[in-house]
Amino acid sequence: MARVIIAGCGYVGCALAERLIARGHEVWGIRRTIAQLPGGIRGIAADLAQPLRPDALPAAPEYLVFTAGASGHTESAYRQAYIGGLRNLLDAVDRSRLKRVLFTSSTAVYAQDDGEWVDEDSPTAPVQFAGRIMLESESLVAACGIPSVALRLGGIYGPGRTRLIDSVREGTARIDEDAPRYLNLNHRDDCAGALEHLMFLDGPQPLYLGSDPNPEDRAVILRWIADRLGVPHPPGDPAAMSRGGNKRCSSRRLVESGYTFQWPSFREGYGNLIGTSP
Ligand SMILES: NC(=O)c1ccc[n+]([C@@H]2O[C@H](COP(=O)([O-])OP(=O)(O)OC[C@H]3O[C@@H](n4cnc5c(N)ncnc54)[C@H](OP(=O)(O)O)[C@@H]3O)[C@@H](O)[C@H]2O)c1
Repeated sequence: MARVIIAGCGYVGCALAERLIARGHEVWGIRRTIAQLPGGIRGIAADLAQPLRPDALPAAPEYLVFTAGASGHTESAYRQAYIGGLRNLLDAVDRSRLKRVLFTSSTAVYAQDDGEWVDEDSPTAPVQFAGRIMLESESLVAACGIPSVALRLGGIYGPGRTRLIDSVREGTARIDEDAPRYLNLNHRDDCAGALEHLMFLDGPQPLYLGSDPNPEDRAVILRWIADRLGVPHPPGDPAAMSRGGNKRCSSRRLVESGYTFQWPSFREGYGNLIGTSP
C-alpha cells in the first residue's frame, strides 16, 4: 500500500484522501487547520507559505499530491500558494522513494475566448495572472526531478459547493443572452477520481485536462437548473460574464487513458445535487 502526502488537503484533497484510505493507502494531509480533516487522514499542521522542516513530513512517501488553493484572488496570494508553497514543499519532501508528483492546475491557463475546443496541445497565453502563475507552477512541477502529472481542472462543484444552483434558487443569477459562454465544470468526485487514476496509471503523460467531457453554455445550464428547481429562468443581463474566458476543454486524453467520469456532464452532477434524475 502506498504512502501519500496531500498538500493543501481541502475540498478535493480530502475527497482524494478518503478514496485512498478506503483502498488501504496511508495518507498524510497538510493544511493550516487540521481539525477540519476527516478521520483516517494523518494531519500535518503546516503553512506551505513558510519553509517546511523535512522532519515535519513523513519519511519515504511514494506519491505527493499538491491541491492547495490560494487564500484570495490576488496575484500575491496566487504566487504565495502556487509558487512559494510548491517550492517549499518540493524542497522539504523526502525523495528517496518518491515515484510521482501530481499537481492540480487550472483551465485558466487558456486565453481562448471564442468558444473553441482546447486540449493539452493548444496554445496557452493567459492574460490574467491566475493562468500565468498556474503555468509557472506547472513548469516548476515538470522540472522537479521526479515524474510528474499536472491535471488542469475547471470550475469545481459538488456537495457543499453549489454556487450556481444557489444563485438560481435565490434569483441572483443573470444570463448573458448575446452569445454562448461555455463553462467547463468538474464534480469533486471526478477531480478526486481522476487524480487517483493518474496516480497509479502506467506511463502517464505529463499533462491532462480534467474538466467533464461536456462543456455547455452557461445560459443553458442556468435555465436547466431553474427548470429542475421549478423557479423562473434567470433574467438576461449583457454584463453577466463568467470569469475564465470562453472555451471548451477536451478531456479526451484523460478518457482515452482509461478514466470514466462518474458525473460526465452538469446534467448528471447538478441533477444529483438537486435531487432529480438528469
Ligand atoms: N475551485 C475551483 O473551481 C478550481 C478550479 C481549477 C483548479 N482548482 C485547483 O484545484 C485545487 C483544489 O481545489 P479545492 O477547491 O479543493 O481547494 P480548497 O478547498 O480551497 O482547498 C485548498 C486547501 O489548501 C489549504 N491551504 C491553503 N493555503 C495553505 C497554506 N499556505 N498552507 C497549507 N495549506 C494551505 C487550505 O486549508 P487551510 O486553510 O486549513 O490551510 C485548503 O484546505 C487547488 O489547487 C485549486 O487551485 C480549483
